[in-house]
Amino acid sequence: MIKKNGTVYRLDTPNTTLVLQADTAQMLYYGPRLPAGDSFAPLARLGRRFFSAPGREDYAEYSLLAEYADGSFASDPVFVRAKVLSEKPALPDLPSSYGEGKTLELHYTDRVSRLHLYITYSVFGGCDAIAVSARVVNGAKKPLRLRRLMSLQCDFPGTEYEIVTFHGAWLQERQKTQRRIGRGVFVNDSKCGSSSHARNPFLLLKGEGQVYGFNLVYSGNHKEIVECCENERTRVLAGINDFQFDWTLAPGESFYAPEAVLCCAPTEDALSARMHAFVAEHIVRGKWKKRERPVLFNNWEGTYFGFDAEKIDAMAQTAARLGAELFVLDDGWFGHREDDTSSLGDWYDNVQKTGGGLAALADRVRAHGLAFGIWIEPEMISEDSDLYRTRPNFAMKIPGREPYRWRNQLMLNLAEERVQNFVVRSVSDVIVRSGASYVKWDYNRCMTDCYGKGVAGGEYFHRYMLGLYRVLQRLQKRFPSVLFEGCASGGGRFDLGMLCYFPQIWTSDDTDARERISIQAGTSYAYPQSTMGAHISACPNHQTGNSNLLSVRFNVSCGGVLGYELDPCALSAQEQEEIAEQIAFYKANRKLLQFGQQYRLEGRGVAGYIALSKDASSAIAAVHVLQGSLTEPPVTVRLKGLNASALYEVRVRGKEETFTATGALLMRADIPLPLEDPVKSARENGGSFRSVMLLLKRIRG
Ligand code: DGJ
Repeated sequence: MIKKNGTVYRLDTPNTTLVLQADTAQMLYYGPRLPAGDSFAPLARLGRRFFSAPGREDYAEYSLLAEYADGSFASDPVFVRAKVLSEKPALPDLPSSYGEGKTLELHYTDRVSRLHLYITYSVFGGCDAIAVSARVVNGAKKPLRLRRLMSLQCDFPGTEYEIVTFHGAWLQERQKTQRRIGRGVFVNDSKCGSSSHARNPFLLLKGEGQVYGFNLVYSGNHKEIVECCENERTRVLAGINDFQFDWTLAPGESFYAPEAVLCCAPTEDALSARMHAFVAEHIVRGKWKKRERPVLFNNWEGTYFGFDAEKIDAMAQTAARLGAELFVLDDGWFGHREDDTSSLGDWYDNVQKTGGGLAALADRVRAHGLAFGIWIEPEMISEDSDLYRTRPNFAMKIPGREPYRWRNQLMLNLAEERVQNFVVRSVSDVIVRSGASYVKWDYNRCMTDCYGKGVAGGEYFHRYMLGLYRVLQRLQKRFPSVLFEGCASGGGRFDLGMLCYFPQIWTSDDTDARERISIQAGTSYAYPQSTMGAHISACPNHQTGNSNLLSVRFNVSCGGVLGYELDPCALSAQEQEEIAEQIAFYKANRKLLQFGQQYRLEGRGVAGYIALSKDASSAIAAVHVLQGSLTEPPVTVRLKGLNASALYEVRVRGKEETFTATGALLMRADIPLPLEDPVKSARENGGSFRSVMLLLKRIRG
């Protein structure tokens, strides 16, 4: 997988090749896998580097910026040595990918300042993504200030590229946005302390015939820069954001940049498939890695804060009757929390609301044959809480400055060890006390008042993340069987860092099926469907006021990990019957739906997905019709991923009739969808927004 020829190192994955010239720090080639035998010598003239620092003739955005004790900024790290390691080195306190493979470690030194730079590239057997990391060691006798250390730099030839990012906001996460670079510098970043609703760290660079994907195994402030350089090169940098970043390294100390991930493929679909395989195999870990995820009912949209033990018990009983496997008690069970103004940090039971305590309520839920799950927001503190009254110093705030009260709450100062210990203790107590087998870990505001006693301002954001990761690591170790689902006001921290601890993440607070289509499709560019929590909620939808058929909501939610976020007791008998049937169908097919190879389906006026078994012998596709009118032309779709020469039987879920067609026809022809007309559908079913689910079985070939 890693071959050496002089100072040229060639890293092969099953379908790609990366060639690095160690002594000149050049990236000679990155693209489709090459046959053996090339020397790559002619490519050295392109001057494409994999790190850069001010102090040479390269004035493009740089990957390293250090300020030395004498006040100077110039660095010129020269090659020292390369090593091929068979163990992937760990990144202390940072999440990172794992698995069998080989790592190339390259070592450079700036002779004047004695700064050492280590860059590693790791390849795994059977995987096309490459993990990249960077580390700086201060070898001088005086401290240095690190102002920027990007995890990854890639220089590409030419400037004819398009950039795809996944922009958004609360309720609108990860909307695919594509544009030409043009001349200049493009930045995709977050400065709010988390990877953000606004700009996911995942980015694509699309060139002729090749798509490159970049991501970060990090959940804090990130920055991706794409620069069209003056000498017809395009540089991509990805790493921790240098916004308010100023890290002092004492003599002998190291700084580890978060791990970055690099991938390329001929199409967006192929790139997503490669990223999915990487995430599923080398990021998600532990008991739930490949295990089918339970169908859950969550009470949040069903009750908000207004519940008591009787209500929860009734909801759980009905949910169990409908076939649910897990009941999740959301916000409001602790302290004296009746709304979002109090009690965060007081993780002890509200005895009244829980009917005698969490343990008693959890037992009542379990008595219905369900597992019990619990919501918690461990990184936060309400000013109206016993925790704040007794330990005001645990809060993140700046002395002498009124803190910004986002959702009426402050954050805990997780940069501090005793606060980390408090969080580990309180989460552990809740899990032990309730016997929860699932934890929804929420995070409902961003950082504003970044300050911790004894923590330098320029180090705060990252020290917070290191503290959080330490906490998560300890909890993961202590509770290896618990399924943790990440949440950050929906999908505000949907990233590879979190996925190292949380096998699934709540994709968005927007549960409107229509809006979810683009949110889930955008998320699926980098992250597999088994990582996306996708719930059915009541209609009219609480975020948008839209109404959609239950079947449409189901078809959309099956694109991720299915759950229900409503009051099941408030449903009609007919709706309950339909949900019971949905859950039975989902359980019978969830291996395919959650872990099959998923592709996005796009077309004129339609969107959706198809999930296929490994050998493409069975598949489930859901196609949603984005608009509808009486004059619409036949609505059609082309499927993906099938075996072209096989013959498939296709059935529309909920209908009797079937038809047969070859994989080739289903993928190459526009297949008309059997839809009711939108006006009839609106009149008879209460929703004009339509969707069909196609069930495919290979019957020959
Ligand atoms: C935001 C989450 O995204 C919701 O699902 C819910 O858990 C609320 N927080 C509770 O406060």
